[in-house]
Amino acid sequence: MNLSKILLFLFSLTFILACQSDDSFDNDIDNPFGNPDIEEPDITPPNNGSEISESALGKLLFWDPILSGELDVACATCHHPDFGYADGRQLSIGVGGQGLGPDRFDQVNDDIGLVPRNSPTIINTAFNGMDVDGDYNPNQAPMFWDNRERSLEAQAIGPLHSFEEMRGHAYSEALTMDSIIARLEAIPEYLQYFNEVYGNNSITEDNIGSAIAAFERTIIAINSPFDRFSDGDQGAMTQQQIRGMNRFEQIGCDDCHSGPMFSDFELHTIGVPDNNQLSFSDEGANGTYAFRTPTLRNLDETGPYFHNGVAGNLQQTIQFYITARNFANNNGNGGGGNGGNGGGNGLNVNPNLNPNDIDNDVENLRNFDGDDIEDIIAFIRALEDPNFDRSIPASVPSGLNVGGNID
Ligand code: HEC
Ligand code: HEC
Repeated sequence: MNLSKILLFLFSLTFILACQSDDSFDNDIDNPFGNPDIEEPDITPPNNGSEISESALGKLLFWDPILSGELDVACATCHHPDFGYADGRQLSIGVGGQGLGPDRFDQVNDDIGLVPRNSPTIINTAFNGMDVDGDYNPNQAPMFWDNRERSLEAQAIGPLHSFEEMRGHAYSEALTMDSIIARLEAIPEYLQYFNEVYGNNSITEDNIGSAIAAFERTIIAINSPFDRFSDGDQGAMTQQQIRGMNRFEQIGCDDCHSGPMFSDFELHTIGVPDNNQLSFSDEGANGTYAFRTPTLRNLDETGPYFHNGVAGNLQQTIQFYITARNFANNNGNGGGGNGGNGGGNGLNVNPNLNPNDIDNDVENLRNFDGDDIEDIIAFIRALEDPNFDRSIPASVPSGLNVGGNID
């Protein structure tokens, strides 16, 4: 604990003790998530005399389809500020697609299909791996729905190699980086910018990853009503939001959605059903159907939800936990081996799972009902900070369409 944290801790303690003497405040200050000081990421300032910062270079790369095989897809195609730096789709469309968000369609009738997962937001990915004390290690930050990669730097190189996301047929996977580096070296503006930020002959895989990661670390949103409430502004959250926060904790949602990012960043099997747009079952991490707990910050703009977007709204998402909890407790599944329960447009537990495959923390959730769901949704809305950087570059050095073929 550094000094500021200790002071903060003491301050919170005094505050809690002071308020406990007044019954009317009891409910208001019961913030189960503590209030760790979220330390903002280090962003390297421009080198001496350089005109462009590392993150500004990264931003250009993020928006430039020059990084995609067929020059039609940028990172921003699937991580766009209009959709909270996700894409508003159940499953993403990369190479050969046209348009943005739910309206995007596969323009070319070829062998390149859907990306088999839902695009997660890049907002606050700077903090992936953060623990309950607010500590995090950017080099070990878990990435993807199955935590298969570590660090934003390493992650950024992945989509370039992916056939469906960005590579397509233009070059083989083995030649991906050489091809991209050769393209960037042929663009004077990139030569100059890389030179300014990293020195001569510096268009390398590592520096491409580093620049994109530096940009992503500027996309943060940590001034939500909840954050202001935690800082002592009693009026920042409504009574319903406060009730929802308390129910969220009492029911046990915070067993996994813990810490300042509302995620333990661990893998859990909660039993989300497959998306029937895919011809195979997505078995998650190591064939266990486990996926990483996502953050609950800024969900307003990043739906649909779950690793494959099968939950259309928060109501349906949270309703699923009642089904999963009942299934794990061996009731409410109609006795069938297929987990078919619930009704209406509710989601069933994945039929490839047995009750004892489901995470104990789901099995042990306390009972809850529709009123609780309404209150919890209100609380999740209090985790929304709409004031993240939504700016889009006017042009990119390649001269290609900014953000790819998204018009
Ligand atoms: C075609 C759509 C698409 C494109 C293009 C794309 N992504 Fe993604 N991105 C996704 C999907 C889908 C996932 C989740 C994949 C998974 O978990 O297996 C993802 C995951 C991520 C994550 C992990 C977030 C987390 O919390 O785990 C980051 C960071 C990210 N992308 C950044 C980028 C960057 C940088 C680029 C460009 C180099 C890029 N993406 C290009 C769709 C896309
Ligand atoms: C066992 C750990 C665990 C518990 C307990 C838990 N969650 Fe989750 N939560 C997850 C995981 C893992 C996912 C992602 C699952 C997937 O996509 O397949 C998730 C996804 C979500 C999402 C979707 C977010 C997005 O971006 O797609 C919401 C909303 C959510 N949980 C809310 C809740 C609420 C409310 C509770 C309490 C009723 C709860 N969770 C309890 C682990 C948990």
